Amino acid sequence: MSSLKWWETAVIYQIYPRSFQDSNNDGIGDLPGITSRLDYVAGLGVDAIWISPFFASPQKDFGYDVSDYCAINPEYGTLADFDTLIARTHELGMKLMIDIVPAHCSEQHRWFVESRRSRDNDKADWFHWVDPLPDGSAPTNWLSFFGGRAWSWEPRRQQYYLHNFLPSQPNLNHANPAVREAMMDVARFWFDRGVDGFRLDAVHTINGDSAPYRDNPPNPEFEVGPLPQDQQPFFRQLHDAAQLNQPSIQLFSEAIRAVADSYEDRFLMGEVDGDNDDAVKVSAGFTTPGRLHATYNFDLLEWAGLSVDEMKEAISAAIEVFNGSGRLSFAFSNHDVPRSATRQLAMLGLSPDKGDAMQLLLLKLETCLIGSACVYQGEELGFADVQDIPLALMQDPWGIEFAPTFPGRDTCRTPMVWRQSSPNGGFSKSNSTWLPISDQHLVRAALDQAERSGSICREFSDFLRWRKTQPAIMDANEMSAVSGGPGQIVFDRISDQQTLRCHFDFDTLTASFEEV
Ligand code: BGC
Repeated sequence: MSSLKWWETAVIYQIYPRSFQDSNNDGIGDLPGITSRLDYVAGLGVDAIWISPFFASPQKDFGYDVSDYCAINPEYGTLADFDTLIARTHELGMKLMIDIVPAHCSEQHRWFVESRRSRDNDKADWFHWVDPLPDGSAPTNWLSFFGGRAWSWEPRRQQYYLHNFLPSQPNLNHANPAVREAMMDVARFWFDRGVDGFRLDAVHTINGDSAPYRDNPPNPEFEVGPLPQDQQPFFRQLHDAAQLNQPSIQLFSEAIRAVADSYEDRFLMGEVDGDNDDAVKVSAGFTTPGRLHATYNFDLLEWAGLSVDEMKEAISAAIEVFNGSGRLSFAFSNHDVPRSATRQLAMLGLSPDKGDAMQLLLLKLETCLIGSACVYQGEELGFADVQDIPLALMQDPWGIEFAPTFPGRDTCRTPMVWRQSSPNGGFSKSNSTWLPISDQHLVRAALDQAERSGSICREFSDFLRWRKTQPAIMDANEMSAVSGGPGQIVFDRISDQQTLRCHFDFDTLTASFEEV
């Protein structure tokens, strides 16, 4: 029996609810749809699922703009549907994680509706309200991740409010204890319903500190791109940002950890990014005792893909976090970046016929690393990124803002495909789906692959079954330094009973394992 907690070794399958399975023929995935596909997910041999937000929301950022944290968006179903989903997940032996968005809410949330009305209402200081500079301009030079300034003007208060993402996603003021307490009530609400853990969205963007708000210093590495400077994607302009990773965010981490600890065996995984190179330091700060259990690591999610040497560096940095008190979770794909099957193929200079072998190798690598691993729906099928979505069909506000220079995130969010022979690949019986179904995905349908020996999906699930029998991976949190020549990633996983040498060869696209 392993002495580790379930989340220390878990393979977590990420479900993007809008694109998983539609049960009521409106072209949009929903909770009963997810429940109907859980047998497939459990069949993969994963340990947990993480579902991206399905809470009440105007869907300006597809659920990451929450208007009621304790209600289900009607297009996704009801609380009763959620209860059925969680019961079935547990019956199948998996844990269930949901995605809470603590840093900001929707402008339609009643907290913001009230707050914006005047300077002296009950929620007046639940958001970051700041007076203009003497010339009327915004208080700092901060930019939004999604383009433009991070401050918008509210005429009724004659003040600016902060939003690190869309103007319709106002940042909550976590320096106010009432805000933190309201978020703790949300956590209790879902823990009481049996949820096993949270992926905490964009915690590094919680602005725990209030006035004085300081300008971000200039970034010496910043290169002006094709867009106007104040429209550059935000992350390119940050260096030592005053806007991110403020020390008092930890008041939030500590408060939510205390709530999690009052239940049994719950897990908190924070989505945390550093500005530039200090991701490791930042992750470590979030996971010291009494704070979050683990951070969701961005280092393998690099938009342009990673060379083998860069992967080695990312993995080595993660070992540093583990050697301190930190824990983390790796991911090669998610709903925010181009799919790994495409970006890594391009970065490694491989021809398309090598795609499946490369994708399987990435999945094996990811699930042998220390810590937990998050596998995004479709990754186990070798789905390519869908890069030909016309502007008229695009949905992601970030992509719409910057197309065609930057395609946004629809490319990795198109619906799952279950059966090649079914209309819409079995995703929906509607005439149209919220994002188009990709023809290239149809031949990779999940249930077809699950029945076909030799498919990536089958090879991956066989691999996960083998992984569970390896004490070095399942029972101990030790990993050697990374070695291997060019094109190779080699490390040992080590427990009292076993030392397992894991060898990933990006020239032959094979993985091999031996006990040493
Ligand atoms: C989520 C994104 C979302 C953003 C704002 C993230 O990091 O993963 O999908 O747009 O937070 O909530």
